[in-house]
Amino acid sequence: MEKISVMILEDSIEEKEKLQAVLSNIEYINLAREPKTLSMAMSIIDAESVNVILVSEDFDGDGFSMVEGLTHEYPDRGVIVLTDELKEDTVHKALFSGAKDVILRPYEPSKLLDSIYKVNDSLTKSVKKEKVVHGKNSLAKIGQVFTFFSTKGGVGKTFVSLNFAVSLIRETKKKVVLVDFDLGYGSGALALNLTPRYSIIDVVNDIRNIDADFLESYLTVHNTGLKILPANLDPNRAEMISAEHLMLIIKTLQSSYDYVVVDMPSSYSEVVKPAISYADKLFMVVLPEISSIRSTKSSLVYLNEMNYPKSKIHLVLNKRSRKDDIKSKDVEKTLDQSISFILDADHRKVPYTLNQGIPYVERYTRSAISKEMKKFILKMSKN
Ligand SMILES: Nc1ncnc2c1ncn2[C@@H]1O[C@H](COP(=O)(O)OP(=O)(O)OP(=O)(O)O)[C@@H](O)[C@H]1O
Ligand SMILES: [Mg+2]
Repeated sequence: MEKISVMILEDSIEEKEKLQAVLSNIEYINLAREPKTLSMAMSIIDAESVNVILVSEDFDGDGFSMVEGLTHEYPDRGVIVLTDELKEDTVHKALFSGAKDVILRPYEPSKLLDSIYKVNDSLTKSVKKEKVVHGKNSLAKIGQVFTFFSTKGGVGKTFVSLNFAVSLIRETKKKVVLVDFDLGYGSGALALNLTPRYSIIDVVNDIRNIDADFLESYLTVHNTGLKILPANLDPNRAEMISAEHLMLIIKTLQSSYDYVVVDMPSSYSEVVKPAISYADKLFMVVLPEISSIRSTKSSLVYLNEMNYPKSKIHLVLNKRSRKDDIKSKDVEKTLDQSISFILDADHRKVPYTLNQGIPYVERYTRSAISKEMKKFILKMSKN
């Protein structure tokens, strides 16, 4: 068995010694040198091929900022947060900053080791899977997750996510899957004129068998090449679906698709949180209207409080019209964030394509909306 290289980021000498006492006696663990700063940590992570990093929640005043920096720079290493109290807030912060697990002090050696082992194991597995899927020359990079979200209904999440997914295929020729997390209500399949045999609930019922091949058999194919995992359409059965199910679905799709595009419901719930925590880009759809801007503002404040990395958040201004009182600059100023792309209001063609089940970007390739999406996707895939 290959040794697991573990780094400890802990200010308290007493706590550090406790950890060292447990870990230094374990044959399959190598303790890496201790860094004082993030840049020092980075050079040690590279030099000593660190696999798992233990970060105290109060390390250097704010351990979560450290976790965020590390998971951003090293998505292929596992970070575990160490805490005194398992408050809901701590778990939220840990998840949003990209940590893989949270461990409670005082440590039970078996739990600590179990967590290190599991985190390392899951990383090795995803790296292996990726190599099989993308060939031996590719880096250990798994599919990117793009989530479209707003806490206000009717702003265009379904329209934008669906057309974004089709546009991604057109422009990049990569493998794209659209996942409808608007559990109990989603209309993604309808907007593509598909009558799927299976929905998320079928996958959840059989979740024990989940792997990429299994999940593939539950997807419906559109003639653009887009695959879709539709939402279940019975709100009563949505209760059977948990955050863990959705996390497994996302992770599994990431192992075989280049892009996983997620359409979200108009409310935030624990169940759909994995689509936010695992997003590489979180697209917040906003309208040039006070109520939409206000609800976007509160979402941004909440995400910030939860330590969600600002770099992942992208604003999409939808239904823009020259006649709007509120201009894009006003939206950017109020939300203190620049807009990634702007889609014009097209009150004739948009409802027409949604009702007919035709992707807008396929039907109206030369319209302003299609061109703007294409421009953003090409720019994004060059970076
Ligand atoms: N750019 C646009 N121009 C004109 N109409 C639009 C545009 N984008 C979306 N719409 C219209 O807005 C309505 C809501 O769109 P959509 O269903 O995509 O929003 P949603 O955010 O997914 O809503 P829900 O919260 O109900 O899931 C639809 O009637 C659609 O036709
Ligand atoms: Mg929708």
